[in-house]
Amino acid sequence: MIKLGDFMLVNFNEMLLKAKEEHYAIPHFNINNLEWTKYILEECQELNIPVILGVSEGAAKYMGGYNTIVGMVKGLIKDLKITIPICLHIDHGSTINICKEAIDAGFTSVMIDASRNKLEENIKITKEVVEYAHKKGVSVEAEVGHIGGTEDNLSSKETNATLEECLELYNLTKIDAIAPALGSVHGFYKGEPNLDFETMNLINKNLPIPLVLHGGTGIPNDKIEQAIENGISKININTDLQVVWSKQVREKLQNDSSVYDPRKIINSGEEAVKKRIREIVTLFKTN
Ligand code: 13P
Repeated sequence: MIKLGDFMLVNFNEMLLKAKEEHYAIPHFNINNLEWTKYILEECQELNIPVILGVSEGAAKYMGGYNTIVGMVKGLIKDLKITIPICLHIDHGSTINICKEAIDAGFTSVMIDASRNKLEENIKITKEVVEYAHKKGVSVEAEVGHIGGTEDNLSSKETNATLEECLELYNLTKIDAIAPALGSVHGFYKGEPNLDFETMNLINKNLPIPLVLHGGTGIPNDKIEQAIENGISKININTDLQVVWSKQVREKLQNDSSVYDPRKIINSGEEAVKKRIREIVTLFKTN
């Protein structure tokens, strides 16, 4: 845990273990820029809930790099007087070096995604990240099976995780949270998401660590509730907030042909993002 005066940047362990015990989910919102980060921090402070800020490799590159992001998040926490626990987390880190680079820059959590490899290789890579991260108090999430994108939505379940794989990955690496592929995908769904709640429940009962659901966008509310009932403690949301933000900004540009100040254009999406965050948090039973 890194203490910033009264303000805290923490790993996800305490917040997720509490969520697992008390059957609710902590939101992981992906960030894209300063405004996005500010909206999430302000709204979660208002709601008085902990939050995980997820940073994909693409978003990290876009924002300038890991050091820039750590500086920005710490600065916002201090200037906005944020007092809720904030976890700054790498989303789908694809290599050991990327995770190490982010940890060295001050990220408090990483996801190593070696799920495209065979389980044995996934374990080897994940183990190296855990050894490095745990020495610095950083939490680690790993993926088993493979969570794809929209195009994979209606494909067979052959990329889904099994209890045995999850147990092996956990026992041999001692990761802090696990993201088993159980039918969710990133981005939009073609048709209804087909989540394997039975395996989810089994994994949750047999592993002491929290379960993560990727691809939170587009899953109907009743299935989100069912996922939480079956042991999901962290739900990742990205596309959803992008969609509500861009709808608002598009409307602003269409209705106001004289606007040119980027602050007015970008910020026209603020209320839509904050409103959606409130709805999501209520659904997740976080507050
Ligand atoms: P969505 O874009 O589908 O919400 O998925 C986000 C995600 O899982 C990030 O890891």
